[in-house]
Amino acid sequence: MNHHRILVTGGTGYIGSHTAVELIEKGFEVISIDNLHNSEAWINDRIGMITGISPILEIFDLCDIEKLDSFFQKYKGIKAIIHFAAFKAVGESVEKPLEYYRNNIVSTLNLLEMMKKYGVKAMVFSSSCTVYGQPDTLPVTEVSPLKPATSPYGNTKKICEDIIHDATIAHNEIKAISLRYFNPIGAHPSALIGELPRGVPENLVPFITQTAIGLRDELKVFGNDYNTPDGSCIRDYLHVSDLSKAHVKAVERLIECKNKSDYEIFNLGTGKGVSVFEVINSFERVSGMKLKYRITGRRPGDIEKIWADTTLANKELGWKTVYSLDDAVKSAWEWGKNLRKIN
Ligand code: WQD
Repeated sequence: MNHHRILVTGGTGYIGSHTAVELIEKGFEVISIDNLHNSEAWINDRIGMITGISPILEIFDLCDIEKLDSFFQKYKGIKAIIHFAAFKAVGESVEKPLEYYRNNIVSTLNLLEMMKKYGVKAMVFSSSCTVYGQPDTLPVTEVSPLKPATSPYGNTKKICEDIIHDATIAHNEIKAISLRYFNPIGAHPSALIGELPRGVPENLVPFITQTAIGLRDELKVFGNDYNTPDGSCIRDYLHVSDLSKAHVKAVERLIECKNKSDYEIFNLGTGKGVSVFEVINSFERVSGMKLKYRITGRRPGDIEKIWADTTLANKELGWKTVYSLDDAVKSAWEWGKNLRKIN
């Protein structure tokens, strides 16, 4: 049983809250920083309901370096940081690029400054497959060429990866792992925590569940004229609980000094491509409902198809997904029905 103290930024967010659960269940002490820009404080209580222990939650903005410095003076002995906190809506980032660059980059720079100042040696960074753009060959590996970002959001992920990498080169006491997520979906099996999109969801699965509970009239399928078997886009959808477990593996790798270099990158996906229509069919199978949807034009910025080569994460992290697509979609549906009771 370890009691290593881990700082989780964005700890009441979608991936952050699920990772906090997995960390606590593995015996870590979790301290969370969140500015609640895109989440709710009661998620922290829900983490307590699931695990029996609520993280310490400090509510402030990581871009406020004075507050962040006071935080590190107050909480000594942090063994690692898992940095989730970021603005993450692709479409919004196109409308508000300056807010995205400032928030996502300054928060990361501030954390790295604090790591240097207070001797925190390890960071796990929440990155995204969006850095690959549309790969020329599939599945995509960690050494596949990166393409110019198709959104300011994606560009902030690429820039932050480079900043973190350069920091590990200049300061050899710092080591880091970037985790490139494919498409996280679903919710904790307890249905006590899950994805909480503010306003109209951008992402496919929350839009499906909100359509099914009657919050949205119909799902718009953004194009069925792609060069794929059924014409709809293909992605690599993984259960958020599988994804969260990978973060525990990454933190343990750094704390136990099992990393093979000071900066490592891992793709986190199932390794299987799934189309929009296959997700819809999965929802109808697990819910027993017919989903109302309409095929419209393509969404600007969408790539056609991507799925992960997960060999490196399987081998080096000892991690692979265990939940199926139906498991993930069903967990999203259970959470979505629960949300209906809250709204
Ligand atoms: C998936 C597929 C849409 C909504 C983005 C970010 C990525 C990560 C996950 C943060 C696409 C189609 C969607 C809808 C639809 N975010 N779709 N109707 O765009 O692959 O990835 O979110 O880390 O970084 O890039 O996910 O769920 O938005 O779309 O037809 O109402 O579903 O066209 O093919 P995406 P998504």
